[in-house]
Formats: sequence, C-alpha cells, structure tokens
Amino acid sequence: MCRPTYFAVDYVINPWMDPSTPVDVDRAIAQWTTLADTYRRLGHTVELIEPIPGLPDMVFAANGATVIDGTVLGSQFRYPERTEEGPAYLNWFARNGFVTQEAKSTNEGEGDLLLTERYLLAGTGFRTDLDAHSQAQELFGRPVITLQLVDPRFYHLDTALTVLGGPAGVAYLPQAFSAGSRKVLRQLFPDAIIAREEDAAVLGLNAVSDGHRVVLPVQARGLAAQLTERGYQPVGVDLSELRKAGGGPKCCTLEVRD
Ligand code: ARG
Repeated sequence: MCRPTYFAVDYVINPWMDPSTPVDVDRAIAQWTTLADTYRRLGHTVELIEPIPGLPDMVFAANGATVIDGTVLGSQFRYPERTEEGPAYLNWFARNGFVTQEAKSTNEGEGDLLLTERYLLAGTGFRTDLDAHSQAQELFGRPVITLQLVDPRFYHLDTALTVLGGPAGVAYLPQAFSAGSRKVLRQLFPDAIIAREEDAAVLGLNAVSDGHRVVLPVQARGLAAQLTERGYQPVGVDLSELRKAGGGPKCCTLEVRD
C-alpha cells in the first residue's frame, strides 16, 4: 500500500475526477489508515511503498504491478501523469528480492488483471491493451481471459468485477462488459453475484476478498446484503475521499502473492 500523503485530484483521466471538487487530504489519509488497520485486524501483513511528491494517484497501489507466485510484471501507464509510478513500484519489488519483468505495452497492473483460482481475468478497452494480456499469459502461465470493458465509469476491470473466491467465484456488473464478454462471464461463473448499478456506482465492486471476508466500500449496502446472503462476511470501509479520484479499497491494495 502507499500512503496518500500527496493525494490530490488535479488532472482528469477518468469520469470520477473533477479538479473543481475540493479534496481533504487529511481525511483521505485517515480513511486509508483505517483500511490498512482493517487488513492487519484480518491477519494480513501490510507492506508500504514510500509515496513520491507529484504522483497523486500513487496511492492506487493495485495499478503498480501484478504479482503471482513471487513473479512481478511491471506496469506501463496509459496516461503520462502516472508514468513514473511504473518504475517506482518495479524498483520496490526488485529491492525486496522479487523476480521482475518490465511491461512491454500499456498495462495497469491489478487494476485490469485479476487472478481467480483457474484464470487470469484481463480487462481491456480503456487502459490495459491486448499485448499486455499475452505478456501476462506467457510470464505467469495462467490462462488469460480477455474481457472487454465498455462503460468509461468502470474503466478498470477491478471497478466492474470482484474476485470473491468461495461459492460465487466473482461478483460483477454485466452492463460494464461487452455482449461477448458477458457471455464468457456467464459460462465461467454461473453462480456469480450479479451486482446492481447503484452499488457499482459507489465503487462497491472495488473489493478485496480472502474467500470469506470481503472488504468493500461501506456505501455498497445492496452488495453487502447479497454477500451476506451467499455466506460471505462483508467488511465495510469508507474511502469516500479516494473515490473522488475513481478509486476504492481494491485500488489501494496490491496483493503480493509469493
Ligand atoms: N485516478 C486513477 C486513475 O484513473 C484511479 C486508479 C484506480 N485504480 C484502480 N485499480 N481502479 O488511474
């Protein structure tokens, strides 16, 4: 995770960002701290990367890399405002003894690459490109399933779909995907939780699950109820300040799978 010390909304690279809306950095830091404490309370270890001035979106660690079996695929950001985050994250992993590979094309890490038990789900349409999907398949040896995103509000796969593990497998918002991708999702995850628009609109699908406990935005009440109904335990957190940049709990979290 990366503390939002230099958090701001001073450019626009997704429809959530409006530089005329004031951002309360202290509040963002407090909300982020609660998220980190929530992970610790649930038994996770939280590693921190040093924030860099001038990189306000660096708090969204999920985009910094993709880590599977201790191997790290670096990121290459679509927009110049975030370019420098790629090497910053990759260097962190190299310094900490991980095997790393640089991205060869636009790749926004675990914003668009989500690991399930059997597949690596890979979003495209707004950020990560198809060549990055091939690179990820070759590097990790996991079957990549390309999914086409169609709604600019849900510009990263992790805003439209959550990997839950457990009985449902995933939760997703069908209308965020192309018709073909919807069919693919229906085939692969027949028991999925189908999210409602109002929950996706508060970034409810930007969640982190350990297979049972699901950390999600507290505002996503309908999704929390659906999760409970299916035997999961929703753990609500408030990241309303970070949502002004288009991010939620999952965006603030890069899972280090060693
Ligand atoms: N402002 C950031 C961007 O548009 C938000 C990134 C959110 N991260 C995520 N994993 N969805 O790139």
